[in-house]
Amino acid sequence: MRYADITGWGKCTPPATLTNADLSTFLDTDDEWIVSRTGMKERRISHVPVSDLAHVACERALAAAGKVAADVDLIIFGSCSFDQMVPNSASRVQQLLGADNAACMDLNTACTSGRYALSVATAMIKTGSANSALVIGAEATSVLMDWTDRDVAVLFGDGAAAFYLEASDQKSGVVAESLGCFGKNRDILDVTGWGLKYANQGQVLGATKWNFNGPEIFKRAVVGMSRACDNVLEKEDLGKEEIDLVVPHQANLRIIDALAKRMGASEEKVFINIQRYGNMSAATAPLALVEAIEEGRVAPGAKLLLPAFGGGLTWSAHLITWGARIKPLGTSAVDLPPCDKTGLELVQDIIAAKKTAEV
Ligand code: UT7
Repeated sequence: MRYADITGWGKCTPPATLTNADLSTFLDTDDEWIVSRTGMKERRISHVPVSDLAHVACERALAAAGKVAADVDLIIFGSCSFDQMVPNSASRVQQLLGADNAACMDLNTACTSGRYALSVATAMIKTGSANSALVIGAEATSVLMDWTDRDVAVLFGDGAAAFYLEASDQKSGVVAESLGCFGKNRDILDVTGWGLKYANQGQVLGATKWNFNGPEIFKRAVVGMSRACDNVLEKEDLGKEEIDLVVPHQANLRIIDALAKRMGASEEKVFINIQRYGNMSAATAPLALVEAIEEGRVAPGAKLLLPAFGGGLTWSAHLITWGARIKPLGTSAVDLPPCDKTGLELVQDIIAAKKTAEV
């Protein structure tokens, strides 16, 4: 039996930080509300396109795996803020890496994109269509954000993470998964103005708005992720107590707490980094796993449970048996170009550009 072991991991967090205090300079909000309702303290704002973030994360994942670009058979780019529709963003990452042997595809299931991409890559390696893959979760939603809407603008940030997967005959990588979608509720998380539907209606791209029913998404997130977790545990005949670490999608600390309670998982068995980055959509769940590894929270052979949810409303859970290695084989010197602006200045630029687009 073939498996897809995860042997490399890397992240790219843009340097410009937007704090809760920064947000309160142009929105009717404050640190107390944001921290108590979401657990978020700051988030990153990208000064480069999302494919550049993804490229740096991939260079780091390749170095961690001790591989070079020519080793990559497949690149799957999970996101919902692609630079453009044609050509796809995976092909831009291939070009930047020089990974000329790789097949390239983009995948959009909103916040779960990185996790769905993990499923597709694992399946392709298991069936022998590919021997290796780079799986990306990357997002730069700051340019799509309606920065006048405090209900949504405080929640999101930009970032990227990537994993290198390779064929193995050891039982490691994703060993069970559960994917689904509450399509009937797809309208409660909807970005208008982004896509051909809106172009046909004569709307301009800069005028994106988020239709967002936070409390309803909250409820379905807890139900969807709990159900997915139960499914994967049942598939592998594992008890909740046998999970070493839960690494959930980070959309709201209260959602994570509600899920942990349902799973009977104690605080030390749940990885949380929402305070540093907010919700980075497709990048959130992959980047949380990268940081869990970096912080020594993942041991060789560990059993990891990875629940996620997002627009669609898609939901997922993956059960991973970690392989033998928890230290990177190498590091990469590749980095983003320097950023000479603060997070607040970058957001002010986006707000000004949107005003121009609306005229
Ligand atoms: O990854 C997929 C996307 N993620 C999500 O959709 C996250 C799911 N939902 C949530 O995380 C939470 O529902 C939110 C954080 C979005 C909202 O928390 P809530 O406890 O459900 O608050 P609420 O929507 O019930 O709003 C409570 C109050 C409202 O005021 P009134 O009507 O009670 O006077 C809002 O207008 O909080 C107000 N409010 C704010 N106040 C200060 C909403 N946003 C803000 C804000 N600052 N940024």
